[in-house]
Amino acid sequence: MKILIMYYSRTGNTEIVAKTLSSQLFGDLTKIKDYKERNGFKSRITSAIDAFRESKTKIFPEEMDLTDYDLICVGTPVWTANPSPAIVTAIDTYDFKGKDIILFATMKNMGGNKAIRRMEEKFQARGARILSSFTIKTQDKNSSQITGETLNIIKYLKSKIL
Ligand SMILES: Cc1cc2nc3c(=O)[nH]c(=O)nc-3n(C[C@H](O)[C@H](O)[C@H](O)COP(=O)(O)O)c2cc1C
Repeated sequence: MKILIMYYSRTGNTEIVAKTLSSQLFGDLTKIKDYKERNGFKSRITSAIDAFRESKTKIFPEEMDLTDYDLICVGTPVWTANPSPAIVTAIDTYDFKGKDIILFATMKNMGGNKAIRRMEEKFQARGARILSSFTIKTQDKNSSQITGETLNIIKYLKSKIL
C-alpha cells in the first residue's frame, strides 16, 4: 500500500505530527505551501477571516498527481474551528476521488472536531472515503510531547486500519 502524508503547517506543530506519521507508516511527505503572508499580527487576523470564510489561497504545489497513492493522510492546523485555507484549497484542487483518507488536525485547545467534520464533508463530496481522523491539542506542549501523543494514536490507527 502506498501512503502519502500531505499537510500545511505555519508554526511547526502539524509538521511534527506529519513527520511522525511519515516515519512510522513509511509514507511520502508533502508540505503544502501557502503563498499568502501568514506571519505577523495583521496577517493572523486576515488568516482567521480567510479560514472562517473558507477562502481559497494560492498554494504550492498547484497540481498533484495522486494516482499512485492508496491512502492519504491530510493534516492542518485548526484556524477559527476550520481547516486552514491551504488545505481547503488542496481538497478543492487535487483529485482525491476513490482515495482512502485519514484526517488530522492540531489546535491550541478547541475547534478541532468542527474542522475535521468540515474536511470530512468536503472529501466525501469529492468521492473520497474517510477511514479515520484525530486531533491533537498543542497548547503548553513541547515537540516531544506532540510526537509521543502522535505515536500513541498511530498504534491505534495501525491496529484498526492498516
Ligand atoms: C489564524 C489562527 C486561528 C486559530 N484558531 C484556532 C482555533 O479556533 N482553536 C484553537 O484551538 N487554536 C487555534 N489556533 C492555534 C493553532 O491551531 C495551533 O497553534 C496549531 O497547533 C498550529 O499548528 P501549526 O504549528 O502546524 O501551524 C489558531 C491559530 C491561528 C494562526
